Formats: sequence, C-alpha cells, structure tokens
Amino acid sequence: MSSTAGGAFFMSSLCVRPSLITTENSQKMSVTTASTTVDPWLLQNVKLLGSQIGRTPLHAVTKLFSKPGVQLYAKKEWEQLSGSVKARAAYNIFKQAIEKGQLSAKTSLLDATSGNTGIAYAKIGNLLDIPVTLCLPENASKERKEILQALGANIIYTSPFEGTDGAQAVARELAAASPQKYFYADQYKNDNNWKAHYHSTAPEIKEAVPGITHFVSALGTTGTFVGTGRRLKELDPAIQLISLQPDNPLHGLEGWKHLETALVPGIYDPNVADENLEVGTEEAWEVMRAAWKYEGLKLSPSSAANLAGAIRVAGKLESGIVVTILPDNADKYSEVVSKLNIV
Ligand SMILES: Cc1ncc(COP(=O)(O)O)c(C=O)c1O
Repeated sequence: MSSTAGGAFFMSSLCVRPSLITTENSQKMSVTTASTTVDPWLLQNVKLLGSQIGRTPLHAVTKLFSKPGVQLYAKKEWEQLSGSVKARAAYNIFKQAIEKGQLSAKTSLLDATSGNTGIAYAKIGNLLDIPVTLCLPENASKERKEILQALGANIIYTSPFEGTDGAQAVARELAAASPQKYFYADQYKNDNNWKAHYHSTAPEIKEAVPGITHFVSALGTTGTFVGTGRRLKELDPAIQLISLQPDNPLHGLEGWKHLETALVPGIYDPNVADENLEVGTEEAWEVMRAAWKYEGLKLSPSSAANLAGAIRVAGKLESGIVVTILPDNADKYSEVVSKLNIV
C-alpha cells in the first residue's frame, strides 16, 4: 500500500465532522475526564486512521548478501501513511493524547523534529483537523520544508548549528510559555513512541519471521529499537538485539543520533541492546548504490546504514535469521541520490 493509496482510502472512509456530529451532539456525546473533554469525532477518526499505519512488507535480501544457512530480511517502513517508520510513533502519540482528551482541534500538537516525525505529525494532523507546530533545524532539506508546508504545518525554524537538540529546547520553551495552546508531544521522552513499536513492529516481525535470531536497528529517538527489541526479547529471549549508531558526531545519517555527544533521549534504555555497532556515512552510501543495483531498492542513507549493519551481523553467522528496518526510501534525499548517481 503506498502512502498515496492510503490517503485516498482515508478520504473515502473518514467521517466528516459537520454532517455527522453537530456541535450540540458533540457536547452531548463528549466524554469528560477529570479536567478534559474527549472529542468523539476525533476518537472515531483516529481509530479509522489506524488501518493505514504499520503492516509493512519484508524484503528478502538475496543478492546483496547471500550465505548458506543465513537469511536476511528488511522491513520496508515507507509503505505506510506519510512514507516512513515514524508514522507508527506519531500515530500512537496522537491516539493516546486524543483518548486522554489532551489533544483537540483547539490545541496544537507541538514537537521538535528533523523530518520524518514532523511529516507524520503533519499528515495525521491534516487528516484529523488538528493543528501541528514543529520546531525544525533551519538546515533541514528543502524537500522536507516543502512537504511540511504543503501539509499545513506551522514551522518554527531553529538554529542550524544545534540540530534537533536545539529544536527540543525551543519546543520546551514554547510549551512552558503557552500550556493551553500546545500539547507538547516530546517524542524523545514520550513512552507512546517506543510502545508503538512494542505493540506493532515487533509482533509483525515475529509473525512474518517466527525463526528470527537477530534484530538490528538504528538509534534516533530510540523508539524503534527500544520498543521492537524489548518485545522481541520477551517473545524469545534468545533473539540478539544489535543497536546501530553513527561512527562520528558529524554524520550524514538523517534520523540517527550519536549518543555519546547528543542529548540522550529519555526513552532510551541502554540495557535493551546485547551489542552496539557503529556505521559510517560512506559505508551507507556504498550500500545505497549496491541496494539499488542488486536489490532494486532505492534507500535513504538511514535505511542503507541499517542494511550495512545487518549485513555485517549476518556475515559473522554460521546460521540464523537477521531482520532489520528500512525507515524510509530515497524520495526525500534527492541531493544524495544525484551525488551518488543512483538512476
Ligand atoms: C530516516 C530515519 N531513520 C532512523 C530514525 C530513528 O528512529 P527512532 O527515532 O525510532 O530511533 C529516524 C527517526 O526519525 C528516521 O527518520
């Protein structure tokens, strides 16, 4: 399912607010919690939207890597709403906040993001009629800025020298100054980030590949690795969990964090990983070229770096089944794609 197809489905299945629920009705039907009111229209529509999140396909890597007794699979996370793995976390954050009455059409969801989470927030906010405010480092790519603007997000540009750490500081200040105006999602500390993967990504992997022996994935906010890893370990304690980080602070792996030199996300749990490996940006670029040539996959630098780490893990095994994540495809990275001459 492509994100475009998903959008079309949602448009046809969405309940239109004015015709279904009048103001009078919504007041009658609304559920009041201790200090907030849950909007029944939002509740119904956020549930409908769930059909477009997750359930992504696995790609069997057979040409770029091949070794008797070892299998390698990569989960194509761009095949869901908004085109990236971050749809899962963003959706779960919206859903839980709507269910608790913390988020409504009168509140703006606020967060710091360098890209994919922002695109997911903006897409979901657009479909649910909830305003979205994003603190975005000014040096984010032109493509990202254009996508976010087209989706109607309110963008606050932050220092290009401070990355998402600086954007987080600005978001925190805004939230503290106007608590009535904003619901501060704080994906770096929000448990609904890693829980999205605990409840969806991990069970999907285990169902598709019951014999999985190794899970390999990058650390950004750390939601994907921590949530998926935690659940896989519960389902089978023998599964080895390998986290990946960039090999230096000035890397080109969009979405990844060099934890030694960055603000460590509140949801990060160093005890989840059995092992941590480092991947270089140039190694990722090599795999971008090779994945296109041999597997027909147009990957982002992040996805290629995950695949590079997974190939390294798989290469050391005599037998086993390795699964990794492909967070997004090359669509938003035209600069890198043309530099590497991937056509
Ligand atoms: C392209 C890409 N790769 C990897 C990640 C890391 O995922 P997580 O934040 O779940 O650790 C992100 C997060 O934004 C991303 O956008």
